[in-house]
Order: sequence, then C-alpha cells, then structure tokens
Amino acid sequence: MPNGVSYRIALPIESPTADGIVQIVAPSRYGWCGFAWGGRMTGNPLTVAWPSKAATGESITVSNRWATGYSSVPAAYIGASHTYLPISPSTTNTTHWTVTARCQGCTRWGTTNIEAATSVTFAYACSTATPSIPASNTSSFGVHESPGRWTHDLGIAKNGSFGTWVG
Ligand code: HEM
Repeated sequence: MPNGVSYRIALPIESPTADGIVQIVAPSRYGWCGFAWGGRMTGNPLTVAWPSKAATGESITVSNRWATGYSSVPAAYIGASHTYLPISPSTTNTTHWTVTARCQGCTRWGTTNIEAATSVTFAYACSTATPSIPASNTSSFGVHESPGRWTHDLGIAKNGSFGTWVG
C-alpha cells in the first residue's frame, strides 16, 4: 500500500465455514493497522493489530472489530475469532512488525461471502499512535491517518496448503 504496509490473504480451496489467513507487515512507525474484509470501515469484519508491548506472551495483539459508524472506536465483533499461526510467528523487529493470524468468521457475514467472489474490494487504515492498552485486544485506539482501498483477485488467494498452514 502507499503507506508501506503489506496485507496478505490466503483462503482454503473450499470450506464449509468462513476461514482465512491474514498477514499484516507494517513499518514500526505504525501504532496500529487494520484490514477491512468488505472494503469499507463500517458494516464488515475488521482485523486490527498492533505491537502488544508485553514483556511475556504475544508480541502482537490482534483484535476483531466491527464499526457501525465513524465517530467511535469499532466495537468487538463476536462473529469472528483470530488465532496466531506459529508457521509465521507474529513479531516485531527493528524496522517492522508482523502479524499472521487465522480468522474464522471474517470472510462471511450477513448475506456476503467473499470466498464466492473473484474480484473483491478490501480496505485498510493505520495510525502512528499506540492503542491505550496495547496488551489487550479490547483496547481503545485513536483514529487513523491513512485509510485506503483496493480491489483484488481473491481467486488466487485459494491455496491447497491452507489446511497445513492452519494445522
Ligand atoms: C477510533 C477508531 C476510528 C475512528 C474514530 C475512525 C473514523 C473515521 C472517519 C471520521 C472516517 C472518514 C469518514 C468519511 O470520510 O466520511 C473514516 C474513514 C475510514 N476508516 Fe475509520 N475510524 C476508526 C477506525 C478504523 C479502523 C479500525 C479501520 C479498519 C480498517 C478503519 C477504516 C476506514 C476506512 C477504510 C475509511 C474510508 C471510508 C470507508 O471506506 O468507510 N477505520 N474513519
């Protein structure tokens, strides 16, 4: 993306449930970055991640959110859950932080199923400010500086190795 952040998606070839892998690689200057599975801020699952700053445990916090408006912090979204994938550890280094997580519930909501589409619009946003309680995935955080969107061929995200990656 123009802000220097990479967003990557992998999907199973076919799954009876909503299942996907999302990876965010963000320059260290970002306090949090979010990925919107339906291409907009409101009314779709959001994967939001940030360095946890915790001395023990996960070095990145990942949080599922859902925004109903533009004036408040997106709320927790109980329709999705994220799990960290050890196959690509979520870490920080001197230049970037990376999160790799499985999201169960992010690819389908309401009547939408993005697995069934090839051309899908996604959106993203980041902020250089750190969330108020970095180790907590229910933390509050401030508004972003750089939202954007792009359209992507999701057909090429489907990979027969998905089961191994989440295994
Ligand atoms: C404290 C949290 C947040 C606040 C206060 C906030 C506020 C706003 C505001 C005021 C706008 C401009 C709306 C307009 O132009 O009419 C906007 C746009 C946008 N925001 Fe947020 N935002 C927050 C978190 C997030 C998160 C976590 C994401 C995740 C990706 C996100 C993604 C976007 C996108 C993609 C747009 C462009 C318009 C759209 O597609 O809906 N925002 N936000």
